[in-house]
Amino acid sequence: MPLFNVYPLYNVTPVSAKGAYVYDENNTEYLDLYGGHAVISIGHAHPRYVEAITNQVSKLGFYSNAIQNPLQVELANKLEALSGCKDYELFLCNSGAEANENALKLASFQTNKSRVIAFKNGFHGRTSAAVAATDNKAIIAPINAQQKVTILDLNDLEAVKTELEKGDVCAVIVEFIQGVGGLDQATANFFEQVDLLCKANNTLFIADEVQSGYGRSGKFFAFQYYNVTPDIISIAKGMGNGFPIGGILIHPNIKAKFGMLGTTFGGNHLACAAGLAVLNVIEDEFLIDNVKVISEYFIKIAETIPQIKQIKGKGLMIGLEFDFEVSELRKKLIYDHHIFTGGASNKKLLRILPPLNINKGHINQFFEALVEALDE
Ligand SMILES: Cc1ncc(COP(=O)(O)O)c(C=O)c1O
Repeated sequence: MPLFNVYPLYNVTPVSAKGAYVYDENNTEYLDLYGGHAVISIGHAHPRYVEAITNQVSKLGFYSNAIQNPLQVELANKLEALSGCKDYELFLCNSGAEANENALKLASFQTNKSRVIAFKNGFHGRTSAAVAATDNKAIIAPINAQQKVTILDLNDLEAVKTELEKGDVCAVIVEFIQGVGGLDQATANFFEQVDLLCKANNTLFIADEVQSGYGRSGKFFAFQYYNVTPDIISIAKGMGNGFPIGGILIHPNIKAKFGMLGTTFGGNHLACAAGLAVLNVIEDEFLIDNVKVISEYFIKIAETIPQIKQIKGKGLMIGLEFDFEVSELRKKLIYDHHIFTGGASNKKLLRILPPLNINKGHINQFFEALVEALDE
């Protein structure tokens, strides 16, 4: 049976990986500055992660959400401690789209309203309401288009105010650092005023931290650079270091009711073991401090390269903008220099999303290759 052909593929076949490196079937080593779309947080095949998952699957890999699962409680407590998000409650699911889908659904339950405000170049996933809130017509099918979503410009505070005052908006959903769109960020004033406008208009403020969360921005969550209190925070990618797990942190103002949300696989034992190993490593290896140090080092070098016209993002969620489209450069980096990087909807932007425990040597390796590739 052929595979449904929806992914344009690079001609590379990874078969193993360790830390910041991926190896193909000929044992060629690739430096991974993309982490499989920002997923690899603690590095490939981290020994504590491998051990935690191996131990758990040999005991109990899965049981449904109809029984006590102390691993979920342990994960929630650890997440509260590391994120500093006190008193929020956790609902676990399996992916970023699912996290946002549940966030939007909860906002609609809570406010009894149904229109969503989202932003230009935003990406929130490919399911029903999440894709409708995504600014990409090519991936919105007619069945998704029936959702009520208004897409506004980032930083257009007046437009947000006008829309919220109409009284029918259940949620404003935003990435504090845009991922797929190309690392753009609104101003602090915009984020903080939108937060206040949401609170004044019985609208929930959803922080989509699926990509920017879990330390990638240099803080546990990117919204923590601002004075805002999101009602719901969605998480996924870095949370499982490759094991499918997602979730939403829910403000205590929102009260749970039996049956309101649910999932078969979400929060299963194996996923929790993976999620706990990730948090333990982030804490014990001071990975958020490492993000800040390496980010500064990276940006300092990037600033010396004349072809780089703009450096976007925060922490280890970095965009390098050129005055040409980067698809050929990415090919050179992967095929000639054996380095994975990412692209974005902004075709002139190279996305850098390495594991959070990357070191200065890896960054030097990248810039040596980049300079050579740019000179070729
Ligand atoms: C900000 C953001 N939200 C949501 C998603 C969707 O996540 P998933 O692909 O796990 O459904 C993504 C994926 O790239 C993302 O970057």
